Order: sequence, then C-alpha cells, then structure tokens
Amino acid sequence: MEKGVPMCLVTVLLFALTCSLASASDPSPLQDFCVAINSSTSAVFVNGKFCKDPKIVTADDFFFSGLQIPGNTANRLGSNVTRVNVDLLPGLNTLGISFARVDIAPYGVNPPHLHPLGTEITMVAEGTLYVGFVTSDPDNRLFTKVLNKGDVFVFPIGHIHFQFNVGKTNAVAFAGFSSHNPGLITIADAVFGSNPPINPDVLTKAFQVDKNVINYLEQQFK
Ligand code: GLV
Ligand code: MN
Repeated sequence: MEKGVPMCLVTVLLFALTCSLASASDPSPLQDFCVAINSSTSAVFVNGKFCKDPKIVTADDFFFSGLQIPGNTANRLGSNVTRVNVDLLPGLNTLGISFARVDIAPYGVNPPHLHPLGTEITMVAEGTLYVGFVTSDPDNRLFTKVLNKGDVFVFPIGHIHFQFNVGKTNAVAFAGFSSHNPGLITIADAVFGSNPPINPDVLTKAFQVDKNVINYLEQQFK
C-alpha cells in the first residue's frame, strides 16, 4: 500500500472536521423571538405548538381539503394566498415543510415580501407570472423570470420576492416551503403599516422623499 494514501485520508478527515466545527451554530429560530423565562407558567413550546399524544392522532391530522378552491382576488392587490401551514394542517408540526396556493388576477401582484424561516419553490399551474427576488447587500441583484404553466422557480430563504400576473387570464401557482411555518414579512405593510406607525421622520430620511409621500403611504397601509 502506498504510504501517502492514509496521510491523505487523515488530511481530508481533519479538513472535514474543521469545516463542520467552523459552521456550527444555533439552529434557525422557528419564531420571531423566544424570550427566556424561568418558570413554565405562561410558557409556549419553542415553535408555538405542542405535540399531540401519538395515541390519539388520526389520519385527519395529516389531511387538508380545499386547495381546489380559488382564493378571492377581489382586493387592492388582485391576489390571494392560501397557506397550508402548521396552523391549517397540524400534522406538519416540526416536519420542515408546508404548502400554498397563490391566485393572482390579471395585473395583480403578490407584493414584495420575504419568508424569514423558509425557502419557497413555486410552480405555475395556470397563466403567466413575472417573478423575481433580490439578493442581499451590497449587490442587491435582481433575478427575474417569466413563468408559464409547468414552470418552476425558487425563492431562497429570507430574500425579498414577488409574483406579478402579466397574462390576460387568472394565474394559479402552487408553492412548497422548507418550513412548517415559513413566516411572512410583506415589505410595504411592515414599513408603512406597522403598529404603531414608524415615525414619518425616520421614513422620510430613509426613503429620501417628501414627508407628504410618507404620510400618504402610511394612510394606504394603515
Ligand atoms: C407565495 O408566494 C407566498 O409567499 O405566500
Ligand atoms: Mn413567497
């Protein structure tokens, strides 16, 4: 046997060990925050859900019916998302996966938003969607694509993304998420519709626009 082979193996193993140590970290949070308390009174399980005793689990805990029903798009955005997450399908708890139906009327939009806890993979079932996401600072690169029936696109976890119906018919897409509850931050709602509102001086300076513009936007997203 060649002398160099075992040495080479040792080097590879050491390298692998170093890499795994270097990338060790706390797991991703499953909620916005988790304030520590000393007693279990008023405590909730880490992801907000306890586990049902397996002895009383039934098939219905793993079942949801209704995604054949179009969401109502008669709203200011012309879009509707039905999210089959752990709240609607308790059997998803801790499994790291969930699902959604997205309906978008012609010229409607699922506005710029992000999922802090999960990657999204979308497949267009009907219609045509212009979709995209933006990378983080400092590049802020925009990746876009026009998707037709059967096309699939991925929105990486935590990235701002959108879907816009550029077709003449209603669009329907189905999305999978790498979390039982990927979370949702809709940019405009969070920035201009927070409760209580962010001081307009902050937003005027941040967006470099006239204060009237900020007042107007805060009225829209109240
Ligand atoms: C659909 O894109 C959704 O994020 O809910
Ligand atoms: Mn999304």
